[in-house]
Amino acid sequence: MPCKLAAGNWKMNGLRADLDEMRALIAAHPDPDCGMLICPPATLLAPMADLAQGSRLLVGGQDCHTAKSGAHTGDLSADMLADAGARHVILGHSERRADHGEGSDLVAAKARAAQEAGLTAIICVGETEAERDAGTTLEVVLGQLRESVPDGSNAGNTVIAYEPVWAIGTGRTPTLEQIAEVHDALRAAVPDAEMSLLYGGSVKPGNAADIFALANVDGALVGGASLKASDFGAIIAALDAA
Ligand code: 13P
Repeated sequence: MPCKLAAGNWKMNGLRADLDEMRALIAAHPDPDCGMLICPPATLLAPMADLAQGSRLLVGGQDCHTAKSGAHTGDLSADMLADAGARHVILGHSERRADHGEGSDLVAAKARAAQEAGLTAIICVGETEAERDAGTTLEVVLGQLRESVPDGSNAGNTVIAYEPVWAIGTGRTPTLEQIAEVHDALRAAVPDAEMSLLYGGSVKPGNAADIFALANVDGALVGGASLKASDFGAIIAALDAA
């Protein structure tokens, strides 16, 4: 069985004062059945990992470089993330593909670096609205999967997140049929059938249970609703109940 995972992506949000939300989350969900992960900005990784010690909360990064170290001003290596307490790293998020021109070849190289550092790579795929309107959703998503997931990836070192670009931060979610269609296709295409498949894009307490009831959805990658312990906690509870 794929592992269930509720993952929060704080993106470029969060100051040290916001660590109080994680204290509240840990207190409210001391022993969830599912994995519980927050990927804060890099500035909060070490302090969040420290406060998560002895709890079920996992922390992760939002990107990493392909190299282990070197002259790459402003970048972070997978080893550095692991050293700060990360267990996972999000790679190929559509915001990085769009804002930083990251292609699937680079995402695959980053994923390999992450896996070599002992991290689980959360590799993101997803179509734009224009690609969906053109009827190319499955072609785009399966193409990104093929090119972004390096050889040797398995359920122990890789998670796939399907995030339709048009659903991110918009409050618009695909229909359950649309999510199921993509997740069923991903399940058939992943190199290891046990690989966890997360859905991301405007996941909220109000829609989480319906999404988690789908056969090939093993959890969520949550943006805005992961910033508040009460909202993220409700999503964790919905995943535990699924
Ligand atoms: P929202 O949940 O804010 O739509 O963001 C989704 C996302 O991009 C998570 O990586």
